[in-house]
Amino acid sequence: MNKTFDFWMDVSPGDVDWAARILISHGSQGAVESASAKGKIRVLGSFPVGRLRKIQEALRQLFRAAVATGEIQELPVVGAAPTPEVDWRGILRFHHRPFELGGIYFRSPWVESRGGLEIVLEPGLAFGMGNHETTQLCLRALHGEFKASPYSIRRLFDVGTGSGILALFALRLWEQLEAVGCDVDADAIAAAREAAGENGLTQRLTLFQGRPASYPGRFDLVVANLQWRIFQVEMEALASKLDVGGLLLCSGLLLDQAERLEDLGRSRGLSFVGQVSGKEWCLLRFRCMERA
Ligand SMILES: C[S@@+](CC[C@H](N)C(=O)[O-])C[C@H]1O[C@@H](n2cnc3c(N)ncnc32)[C@H](O)[C@@H]1O
Repeated sequence: MNKTFDFWMDVSPGDVDWAARILISHGSQGAVESASAKGKIRVLGSFPVGRLRKIQEALRQLFRAAVATGEIQELPVVGAAPTPEVDWRGILRFHHRPFELGGIYFRSPWVESRGGLEIVLEPGLAFGMGNHETTQLCLRALHGEFKASPYSIRRLFDVGTGSGILALFALRLWEQLEAVGCDVDADAIAAAREAAGENGLTQRLTLFQGRPASYPGRFDLVVANLQWRIFQVEMEALASKLDVGGLLLCSGLLLDQAERLEDLGRSRGLSFVGQVSGKEWCLLRFRCMERA
């Protein structure tokens, strides 16, 4: 059975960026463009089936507002259909490229080992093979933190763990670390479990399906590669999971969403300590300086 549906809108060429951003900010992991009829461009995203009605309603309201404010010229023609059955694993296998970061080699099982420290990940349907800019920003930030504090980080919480890549990388870096990973998606947790086993890190990684608030205790380091609309819901919980002095790394933000996240973090009592910008995405760092 299909687990996702495609939602598309046919827009004028000048509205393509707007349309892509709307899809991504509503939870699509990307936006695909193709030519459509009458000189329009089709911008398509994919969403979990359970969210179809909510997405359609949210977008309908947003379109009306965008036309009213002149942000776009006319209402886009939209459509939705179950995502066609595609061999995503095959496609991902084809596209995945191994890479190295901080002396650790990230590869898929069919790429030959080079010996030394590595993380082996089977490309599947969970997000997090490491090639996406949002994941790269997290991996680099974790490595930077390791170089700055090679011994003092003991507990890490990976929120929205996907394939488990961030937790696994952190466990490789910090030998004394214990990590917890959570994800709302059962498939992601299954993939992360498989990856933890494959990499011999099961003993040090606790995984559970759910949202961050449902796990007890606090952490030295919390990493969350989510999306702006999810941070709006989860920031309170993320802040509450930090020990005093603890660091929160937030990725998954488009460049123009950074300021809003900075304000959101401050409003939850966190100190903003910096931003790293990539080409399209950025990562923000917050610290918990005190607890009321
Ligand atoms: C962009 S992926 C990040 C995967 C991986 N951590 C990485 O950096 O490549 C975001 C993940 O967050 C999960 N997610 C979305 N909302 C969540 C929530 N409220 N709590 C926990 N996980 C969530 C999604 O299912 C998805 O697997």
